[in-house]
Formats: sequence, structure tokens, C-alpha cells
Amino acid sequence: MTIKPAAPAASAGACRITIDGVSRVVEPGLSVAAALVATGEIGFSRSKSGAPRGVFCGMGACHDCLVTIDGRTSQRACMSPVADGMVIDRQSARPDIRDPGLRDVGVPPRAIPVRPVEMLVIGAGPAGLSAASVAARPRRRASRWPRTPRRAPARR
Ligand code: FES
Repeated sequence: MTIKPAAPAASAGACRITIDGVSRVVEPGLSVAAALVATGEIGFSRSKSGAPRGVFCGMGACHDCLVTIDGRTSQRACMSPVADGMVIDRQSARPDIRDPGLRDVGVPPRAIPVRPVEMLVIGAGPAGLSAASVAARPRRRASRWPRTPRRAPARR
């Protein structure tokens, strides 16, 4: 992974990208995350508390590497290959859902429907699936067994 300083013209095969308004030249084939790290940028975005966020899992699972790519908000830098002319902007890791850059993600609901439930399991990991499985079983009432008290054996 070699980083070259921004040059007036990109060399053959190199990608010229813009990071927060600064032009950079990187090797093609890198992910955006690799390109950012290679240019010395390890804080890709900021959390709600202001802490820097960057590459954590490197495989698209954690969403800690969110950046804006060509105007599209919250793209995973580790899963996006660089392309010549790409414009990358660092952002807040948790952008406002009303951000127009998120229009391709979906339209935020105007009102969230209220649906009463007896139990809500949040999470589909091993613990969540196990809890949902147990909750879905038919209920059994606790009962005392035997129902009648035992008589003591008769003495002879
Ligand atoms: S580093 Fe985890 S999703 Fe990109």
C-alpha cells in the first residue's frame, strides 16, 4: 500500500480521490477504509459523544467506519472500493435520519405504529433466538405433584 502525494495528474492506474476537500492519489483496488488509513486518517467519523470512530471489524458488520461517499451518507468505508474521482467526506457516525443524503436508505416513518406485545425480544444472536424460542413454547402451569398428600403406610 503506497501513498503518493497529490500530483497535478494521476499516474496510470492511480485513483485521485478527495477526502474532506483535499485531493489525494491512492492505489486502485483499495477499500475506502484502506485509502483513508493510508493517508493518515484513522478517525473516519465521530460518535454522538464526539469520540472518533474508525475501522473496527473491517468486514461490514460494525458500521463504525461510516463515511459519505459521493454525497451518499453512511457508506461503509471498509466495504467500498475506491474509484477515481471519488469524493469522501467524514461525518457523524450516527447521522440524522432526516438527512437528505439518506434518502436511498428509506423514508423515515411519520409515526411508529404501536403494537402491544406480551414479550419483545430484541436481537437475533444466540441469546435472542434462545429467548424467543423459549418464549414461543406453549405455557405450562406450575402444579404441585402429587396433588393429594401421601398417606403414611399403615403400621402393623
Ligand atoms: S469497519 Fe466494521 S463495518 Fe466497516
